[in-house]
Amino acid sequence: MQVVSGIQPTGNLHLGNYLGAIRNWVKMQDEMGDSGQCLFFLADLHAISQPHVPAELKQSTLEMTAALVACGIDPARSILFNQAQVPAHAELQWLLSGTARMGWLNRMTQWKDKAGKNREGQSIALFTYPVLQAADVLLYQATHVPVGEDQKQHLELARDIAEKFNRDFASGDAPVFTLPEPYIPPEAARIMSLRDGTAKMSKSDPSEASRINLTDDAETIMKKVKKAKTDPEPLPSELDGLNDRPEALNLIGIFAALAGVSKEQVLIDFGGQGFGSFKPALGDLLVESFAPITARFRDLMQDREALDAILAKGAAKARERGTPTLDATYKALGLVRD
Ligand code: TYM
Repeated sequence: MQVVSGIQPTGNLHLGNYLGAIRNWVKMQDEMGDSGQCLFFLADLHAISQPHVPAELKQSTLEMTAALVACGIDPARSILFNQAQVPAHAELQWLLSGTARMGWLNRMTQWKDKAGKNREGQSIALFTYPVLQAADVLLYQATHVPVGEDQKQHLELARDIAEKFNRDFASGDAPVFTLPEPYIPPEAARIMSLRDGTAKMSKSDPSEASRINLTDDAETIMKKVKKAKTDPEPLPSELDGLNDRPEALNLIGIFAALAGVSKEQVLIDFGGQGFGSFKPALGDLLVESFAPITARFRDLMQDREALDAILAKGAAKARERGTPTLDATYKALGLVRD
């Protein structure tokens, strides 16, 4: 089992990232014990696919590193690094670009959403972004990739690229790449915006009130939960009663994921009550869950050198781990290097 996953260091770590991905990273790291190391990385190379401010990217990379450690990623047990320090990611992306098809990339919903009507004006990086994502996981022969639902299509593409490459270039029965499986949390696959239950919670949403950030203080969290869009009906006692009530369903889902219980159980406890009593309970649970993480994050941010050292050490290990697959890829393609 080889676990690999990444997060873009743009903006803050929010509740969607935490429940959809990071919490599972920590769980998988803890379950691995001594049987192997997970690889977790800051996808800084992905972050340049859209307009960005260099100084902010630098700061966000350090902040996201601190946030991941604060959430429980242990650099002594997992390999934590940023892509820019491991050139093999960009190299492998190029090597896979001969295999990835235009038609496959054209079908990516994230590309369609982000490009909108202005495809011609987008960077090439935004279009080829999923090939870099495929390189990220194939480089380490990933078997399990813990992500939220929105990344599923990108991982299916990674499988398609790996399959075609193996078919076209692997010699004999020895495939060059392992086919990765997405691992999506059943209870928190898609956390929605607090302002619109039909849109996913996202760092690119212009409304700060749409998401809860790891760095929000208790007062801000409470305020955002109280302002969260809902409807005037009381909560039902069964899940069926949440059909066509996306905002209510989202809040119940968040409560269930944080409390480690089913949505049905939350409705047994809160059914018949209005949001006037449910929202403060949800706010308390969020504050209680995030408080230790936020405190740890603030401490870690005080020591820039320690964060640099974590990334440097992680990158050295990642470079070593990636070398055999990168070499095998060059070789399979008939590229002469020595
Ligand atoms: P990113 O940075 O947008 O998000 C990081 C992780 O958080 C998950 N996530 C969510 N899960 C549930 N509900 C939400 N509202 C929500 N918002 C975000 C994402 O699914 C993701 O798991 N392209 C990736 C980064 C990446 C990557 C990779 C991931 C680059 N290379 C290789 C896995 C493997 C991205 O932009 O995620």
